[in-house]
Amino acid sequence: MIKIAPSVLAVDFTKLGAEIQSADNSQADWHHLDIMDGHFVPNISFGPALVKTVDKISDRYLDVHLMLSEPEKYFEDFKDAGADSITFHIEIHPDPREHLKTIKEMGIHAGISLNPDAKAEQVIPYLKDCDLLLVMSVFPGFGGQSFIESSLDTIAECRKHIDKNNLKCLISVDGGVTGENAQRVVDAGADVLVMGSAFYKSTERANLVEAVHDIKRNKQVIE
Ligand code: DX5
Ligand code: ZN
Repeated sequence: MIKIAPSVLAVDFTKLGAEIQSADNSQADWHHLDIMDGHFVPNISFGPALVKTVDKISDRYLDVHLMLSEPEKYFEDFKDAGADSITFHIEIHPDPREHLKTIKEMGIHAGISLNPDAKAEQVIPYLKDCDLLLVMSVFPGFGGQSFIESSLDTIAECRKHIDKNNLKCLISVDGGVTGENAQRVVDAGADVLVMGSAFYKSTERANLVEAVHDIKRNKQVIE
């Protein structure tokens, strides 16, 4: 079943508790938490304290996306705050194996992410070492941006490698994903859809989640 991971960045922070509970009540699968340092990306978001708050409110899987220039400095803090997975960017660690191992040794899932201008070849050698690949379909830093279509090629290339080698790495897609483009994102090869604005601006959240859960991947004929 295709999973949906609402991005906490898009909540109305005056109602954080109610928003997280609303996501849980809608049967959304994960909470995606965007951690930004104002250096790797031109925005600053929130830290371990907010992850801990969400962990207190919800028992859902906490998918922590580190958009940090020194992510490894904070692995322990986010694990202690309740992260179930920690994802960092290949742009920071072109050979991510050591840091993936460190995260796994903490007993949580380890992921790498790549920006829309990165090539699938940059991550393909490491997919065997990952629990999660987060393909960015926007340049990271802000919610509410438009989906970058070329990310579909990256998703498809990574899906082909994962299937061919029978790897367990999940593909999550992050940025500008909506109910309208979800089928195409899944057809390209996504297992998890991160949705910020599309989810938290929706008045029909449970319907959106049900629609995502019902998506079936139409096999792509990949030459
Ligand atoms: C962007 C973040 C995304 C963002 C998604 O830097 O990594 O997770 O919050 O928000 P939408 O779905 O609105 O693009
Ligand atoms: Zn994200």
